Amino acid sequence: MGSRRWMYTFVLGALQIGFAVGCNSGSGMDGNPPDPNPGGPPPVGATFSQNVQPIFNARCTGCHSPQQRSGSLDLSASVSYANLINKPASASCSASVAGAVLVRPGDTAGSMLWRKLANSNDKCGGAMPFGSAGLISVARSEFDTIAQWIQGGALNN
Ligand code: HEC
Repeated sequence: MGSRRWMYTFVLGALQIGFAVGCNSGSGMDGNPPDPNPGGPPPVGATFSQNVQPIFNARCTGCHSPQQRSGSLDLSASVSYANLINKPASASCSASVAGAVLVRPGDTAGSMLWRKLANSNDKCGGAMPFGSAGLISVARSEFDTIAQWIQGGALNN
């Protein structure tokens, strides 16, 4: 009689599927590295080249590069600044939020970049990094760094 054996196989299989699903729902499993400085303040006097671009390099250029311009946006080092400042968002973003601008210097809430990182209700599309609840949840200090940079006039420094 092999039926009991079959039963065990079935139960074990079901448990394995359960574990796999359970693990995937854990934090940090969405492919985004954890916050390197949890709860810490943003660096004082954060600059674009020293503090903001490294965040783009670590978390964004996997999708926002010359090869893969997701959302028609390249955030790689030589072009990111020009692609963001006072630039209208993509056609698909603007179709859902009319007049969206990626970065308005001095105006965090008026910047679509900030809205997507903050997972704000008035964003177009999804929160960034894609598939997360926004940088504000993934790495608060990095979110604060970008917010501070926009607030401070989004300088190319
Ligand atoms: C896994 C891929 C992926 C990663 C990583 C990612 N993005 Fe995106 N991004 C997308 C996709 C896809 C879109 C278009 C759909 C949407 O807006 O939700 C997009 C759209 C955007 C837009 C809107 C551009 C426009 O004009 O429509 C901004 C701004 C943006 N991303 C910023 C970022 C930033 C900043 C990071 C890093 C913190 C980041 N993204 C990380 C895939 C990604």
